[in-house]
Amino acid sequence: MIILKSERDLEAMRPACAVATTVLDDIAAFIQPGVTTRQVDDFAASRIKHYGAKSAFLGYRKYPCQICISVNEQVVHGLAGSRVLNFGDIVSLDVGVVHNGFIGDTARTVAVGGCSVVAQKLMDVTERALHEGIAKALPGGRVVDISRAIQGFVEENGFSVVREFVGHGVGRSMHEEPQVPNFVDGKSSPKLRPGMTIAIEPMVNSGLADVKILNDGWTVVTRDGSLSAHFEHTVLITESEPEILTWSEKIPSKLKAL
Ligand code: MF3
Ligand code: CO
Ligand code: CO
Repeated sequence: MIILKSERDLEAMRPACAVATTVLDDIAAFIQPGVTTRQVDDFAASRIKHYGAKSAFLGYRKYPCQICISVNEQVVHGLAGSRVLNFGDIVSLDVGVVHNGFIGDTARTVAVGGCSVVAQKLMDVTERALHEGIAKALPGGRVVDISRAIQGFVEENGFSVVREFVGHGVGRSMHEEPQVPNFVDGKSSPKLRPGMTIAIEPMVNSGLADVKILNDGWTVVTRDGSLSAHFEHTVLITESEPEILTWSEKIPSKLKAL
């Protein structure tokens, strides 16, 4: 069942999404060579608390950290630990918070100091693929329109979309219907209606699409060791243009210039 959000729901959910966005901005600014992923997660804890929210991830299916921190070939669900971030790494930061009874879910990949040309292209293509998808989040369309736009853009640029993990409806629960795949799966696809709130979140590999899970039971990595990037927004379907509930003015994006 797809849960449509009322204006009253949205009055609570918009601030939840704003907190997720601001926490992610804060964490992105904290990233620099020499910090450990444990320090990043502890910093995330303090920022989430500062805004009066709670991590939506900690304890979810026994997930042990505040946020997901996935470095280089790690795709999603990377765990905090003693790993030191080095200049040239790329790190995917996924933040979910609960605030006012609603969840905001947003992710982006950032370079640690700087990165290779191919890593930068991977991040740019993934972010632009997200926005190609968002542009199709229109009433009267279907979820598959979003999926097709993302997959088409990624593959045109020579990269591959991960199949095993997908976007999702989001609201009072982190994972609501519908699923929002980043590829066309041939299954029947729900119609998009005003009031739907969905997390659109392409995970894109520079090599092959295949992934595996490490022995920690969480960390998803590319099978071929290639780099991976992840961008995510929580988006409201309206009567007209989609509203990006996790939009940040601080995303260092070249989207406007392109
Ligand atoms: N934030 C992820 C998503 O975008 C879900 C993380 S689940 C966790 O759907 F348990 F790993 F936190
Ligand atoms: Co997320
Ligand atoms: Co999500």
